[in-house]
Amino acid sequence: MNRITTGPGAEVRRVFSERFGAPPEVVVRAPGRVNLIGEHTDYNDGFVLPMAIDRAAWIALRATRACTVRVQGIDVGQTGEFSLAAVRAAGPPAAGTLQQGWLEYLKGMAWALMDAGHVLCGWEGAVAGDVPIGAGLSSSAALELATARAFAHVSDLSWDPVAMALLGQLAENKWVGVNCGIMDQMISAAGRADHALLLDCRTLVGRHVPLPAGTAVAVLDTGTRRGLVDSAYNERRSQCEIVSAHFGVTALRDVTSQDLAARAGELDDLALRRARHVITENERTTEAADVLAAGNGVRMGELMNASHASLRDDFEVSCEALDVMVECARKANGCYGARMTGAGFGGCAVALVEIGAAPALAQSVATEYRQLTGHAPQVYVCTATNGADIA
Ligand code: GLA
Repeated sequence: MNRITTGPGAEVRRVFSERFGAPPEVVVRAPGRVNLIGEHTDYNDGFVLPMAIDRAAWIALRATRACTVRVQGIDVGQTGEFSLAAVRAAGPPAAGTLQQGWLEYLKGMAWALMDAGHVLCGWEGAVAGDVPIGAGLSSSAALELATARAFAHVSDLSWDPVAMALLGQLAENKWVGVNCGIMDQMISAAGRADHALLLDCRTLVGRHVPLPAGTAVAVLDTGTRRGLVDSAYNERRSQCEIVSAHFGVTALRDVTSQDLAARAGELDDLALRRARHVITENERTTEAADVLAAGNGVRMGELMNASHASLRDDFEVSCEALDVMVECARKANGCYGARMTGAGFGGCAVALVEIGAAPALAQSVATEYRQLTGHAPQVYVCTATNGADIA
């Protein structure tokens, strides 16, 4: 076990000791993620290829006899507390209600675990993280899975990454009120160092794919956030469902490019473009896993570029800031390819780059993007990490 000496891992340990007068029993972490390719495919039962990043939510904690959770939220400068019985009795809010605030992710996870029949014990702890919030890097899935890890420790639950990811998604869908797919929780639970995860979102069977030697993944935060992302996301989901119903299949995963071409005349232009994105993105994503495993950064870059065009033109979830960021990255020396990542409408792009070129690329892309847009970007050159674990 490596003792963490800097960052939020060290911070939660320090604050815990200060506040509770003894070192924590355990420190858990769960990472954020960046999706390399396979966007807006998870809720269509399709394929995604994310990796867990070296930015995570951390909790230092110890078990208590009280059936409550008492936490110091270091980043927000707040203390929170809830009773497990009260969360259980209250249950999730009415459908369509959003419950905001960091503590809701902890409560939602507690509710989901209890709803699945787990008997939970209480704990007290300190929470911090360095996944930027609202950037599309899944800070919420990280907090959910770190909370699950904390409960698993104090309540002696076996750690099944798939089961825990599903409960994290349940917490997000039902308790927090955000209608996300399974990708974010799965990669936060099941990531592997130096690998991306090709995940079949129907069967939840995954294949860890090594990242090509000599490449690095740059996450390019546009510094823009869009409030309406939830409603646009739900609208895309229902547009996809309408097309799959038209084809008489469970999900767009079951429609091939040939099926779509043969029956294109039955769909209006918008439905055709939405479906074409999902169907071609699934094809690109399965190919991407193979080319990554073969160490072919050049082809991976082409697939990422094609994914961006499809998200921009057919699925219409990009925005000017993302398009500019992607263009800046592609022009830089050593870039194989770049695309928007996550739900879209702002947040981050991702680029696959030559490892030696990454520092200069980060600098030049940030400078050019700032000049063109006036927004303050952030560039993180990320490594792929393990999923939720004990630090
Ligand atoms: C968000 C959701 C994911 C996925 C992506 C788009 O990140 O949480 O489930 O749908 O958008 O690929």
